[in-house]
Amino acid sequence: MSKKLFIETLGCAMNSRDSEHMIAALEKEGYETTNDMPSADLILINTCSVREKPVAKLFSELGVFNKKKKEGAKIGVCGCTASHLGKEIIKRAPYVNFVLGARNVSKIRDVLHKEKAVEIDINYDESEFAFDDFRTSPYKAYINISIGCDKQCTYCIVPKTRGEEISIPDELIIREAQRAVDNGAKEIFLLGQNVNNYGRRFSSAEHEKVNFTELLRRLSKIEDLKRIRFTSPHPFHMDDAFIEEFANNPKICKSMHMPLQSGSTKVLKDMKRGYSKEWFLNRVDKLRAVCPDVSISTDIIVAFPGESDADFEETIDVMKQVKFDQIFSFKYSPRPETEAQHFENVVDPVVASERLSYLQALYTELLDEKSKTQLGKVYEVYFEDLNADGYVSGRTDNNLVVKVKGSEELLGEFRDVKITQIARTIYTGEIVG
Ligand code: SAH
Ligand code: SF4
Ligand code: F3S
Repeated sequence: MSKKLFIETLGCAMNSRDSEHMIAALEKEGYETTNDMPSADLILINTCSVREKPVAKLFSELGVFNKKKKEGAKIGVCGCTASHLGKEIIKRAPYVNFVLGARNVSKIRDVLHKEKAVEIDINYDESEFAFDDFRTSPYKAYINISIGCDKQCTYCIVPKTRGEEISIPDELIIREAQRAVDNGAKEIFLLGQNVNNYGRRFSSAEHEKVNFTELLRRLSKIEDLKRIRFTSPHPFHMDDAFIEEFANNPKICKSMHMPLQSGSTKVLKDMKRGYSKEWFLNRVDKLRAVCPDVSISTDIIVAFPGESDADFEETIDVMKQVKFDQIFSFKYSPRPETEAQHFENVVDPVVASERLSYLQALYTELLDEKSKTQLGKVYEVYFEDLNADGYVSGRTDNNLVVKVKGSEELLGEFRDVKITQIARTIYTGEIVG
């Protein structure tokens, strides 16, 4: 009988891909996944430490798992919090069997057999490791193109949890994409903390210089591959060649994530983002000039230390000018091992909450205005998910989520859909072709 694996994945798409890599490796150990934690023989939490709250939740969740797990079941803590807390986790929760950092995913089978193992070396190089294949979705394939991050954004813990940035050789990426397409995926989703810095450093100094724009060109030659998405590009590295390739390559989906973080050039400087408000707006203008239908999403941090009312107004100004299609917004959360945790002029938590609510309300107001104009439009939708309520959902090229009445025969198919109803970010439509 096979053993059961329960895996909880928090954080970003990279963690989702890491979980797939771990599931693939653990299949070799005879594990299959289950959604029922108490019946699992192995419980993994793939953690995120980008903000403080989820880290605090980890220990209460571990306590619950420990109480409810079946006798003899093992618990492993993986991912970014594993990287930064390391053996501290076993100190605080002694029943945890092993700790595996975000940069050490390939060692999952080793730590499984070493009681109280802690593998968290952020200099470990997995960039050429041949992971086995497991995919949650047969329709869309996540593919890592780099590991780690070389930026030093002063608020961010990621460079400390995932280490220095190393690009994965393009031939490995292309092979992985080809395999996914051979197995039926029509969309690939390229992952990295800073995808458009791709090619700056490979493990081997002899590797041919290939930048992100060139990687996109090479990948788009794969026959039967219909869609390419990626996250996250960095506004600093959005040069004209990249924006033009994005606009002109028909396989690249016309949805761009442009993480603004702040609209104030002063705050951006304190964050060490490397660009100004003007540069960001200039890149948006350039993008919209060559690609008028592009949808733009962003990440925003409010109440970074030293953010004045006037600085916050600059963020609001960018919001009004750009009218983002989607925002992910957060209150600044001080993180260990980052520069900003020592910054003075911390923003009052009440003011921080007010700013976040104001920003989110403005976003929905701008979005409602914009989405009204979508009613009646026809989009090509790639169907990926079967919903419980008799609907099937998918995404348009520019990343709108659209659902239609239907069943599994639509999965993995492209159809033209007319939008008949809009409820904020959920679009309902009917197939017209
Ligand atoms: N590499 C990506 C970001 C990864 S982290 C990029 O540069 O865009 C995802 C998002 O979490 C960031 O864009 C940022 O908005 C947010 N974030 C990171 N650290 C944070 C912190 N200390 N407090 C609040 N939000 C944070
Ligand atoms: Fe963090 Fe900045 Fe790297 Fe993004 S680019 S992961 S925000 S350090
Ligand atoms: Fe979180 Fe690590 Fe991703 S901190 S956002 S899981 S890189």
